[in-house]
Amino acid sequence: AAIEKGGYDHFMLKEIFEQPSTVFDCLRGRVDAAKGTITMAGVQANIEMLKNAPRILIIACGTSWHAGLLAEYIFEELCRTPVEVEYASEFRYRNPIVNKGDVIIAISQSGETADTLVAIEKAKEQGALIFGIVNVVGSSIARVSQAGAYTHAGPEIGVASTKAFTAQLAVLTIIALQLGYEKGTLDNKRFLHLLNELQDIPEKIPAALNQAEHVKQLAYKYKDARDFLYLGRGYNFPIALEGALKLKEISYIHAEGYPAAEMKHGPIALVDETLPVVFIATKDSYHEKIISNIQEIKARKGKVIAVITEGDDVITQMADDVIVVPQADELVAPMLSVIPMQLLAYYIGVAKGLDVDKPRNLAKSVTVE
Ligand code: AGP
Repeated sequence: AAIEKGGYDHFMLKEIFEQPSTVFDCLRGRVDAAKGTITMAGVQANIEMLKNAPRILIIACGTSWHAGLLAEYIFEELCRTPVEVEYASEFRYRNPIVNKGDVIIAISQSGETADTLVAIEKAKEQGALIFGIVNVVGSSIARVSQAGAYTHAGPEIGVASTKAFTAQLAVLTIIALQLGYEKGTLDNKRFLHLLNELQDIPEKIPAALNQAEHVKQLAYKYKDARDFLYLGRGYNFPIALEGALKLKEISYIHAEGYPAAEMKHGPIALVDETLPVVFIATKDSYHEKIISNIQEIKARKGKVIAVITEGDDVITQMADDVIVVPQADELVAPMLSVIPMQLLAYYIGVAKGLDVDKPRNLAKSVTVE
């Protein structure tokens, strides 16, 4: 087992550190920024259907659902197609409206999640095209899908999903770029810019991973907190949800993810000097707004841990602690800002002496409903 872990203490840590190469593998042969081309057979083969789809429905569970939520922001921005993101377990039981022409994107690491599988079988009967984004080759969801793209992240052993998530984001971004380009909702200049930004991500991930020792220290500082709040806006809102899920799974600390501005409608009542609040506050179009949200937390004596873009002196002054990630276009930045979320959950779990690869009550793939 020590050999399988490649010198790392746990599979989870190994998989977190594999991300420069897994994201690279996911882009390889698909994205060529120098030529300005995208090659994705599953998309090309169904391009007319995708272009004409009145609606895209995304169906998934857990971390894969978070990738889907981020995809909603990306697809609506680049392709102007309305997107709905559904929890598979809710979708399957509620007599869902699926119209002919709708495209269903199913996202699953394992390809065996029972709720997702049954939900897409149902949608398929109703005449929708099922496009699967799956990691495990030949899995049930891959087989039920009529089209799809593999994430090529390699086997994920740790129960907490890490490298599969960044690979899902990479695939979803490629699809949105291609579709936006084909639909004409994305102009050539921005298309090329985003293609370059996406291709640069694997080279930027190591700088985010370099924060590991610093995050480990923060883990010891905050490990005894009873609750955590995770806040983000826009493209980083799904990352707040993902950060909270990772922490719950691995450290058994109660955590909530929230849109930063929604906090004043309730969760702000929880804030006092014992509450660590993780802000995903990289430099994007929401930056000024999230700075105000940080001030609201500091005014109530909450402890602020902020994930920021390198060189952000403003938030560095305000926050109790910062974790730095490289600059990137806001559309692809979540593939970097999620790395500190994974590391923080991991190191807090380790600091508490927990079995991070096999947290209690959880299974790697949930094959029962
Ligand atoms: C994430 O860390 C999970 N343990 C879990 O939420 C998982 O993402 C979910 O069960 C979906 O699994 P899938 O991607 O294999 O379908």
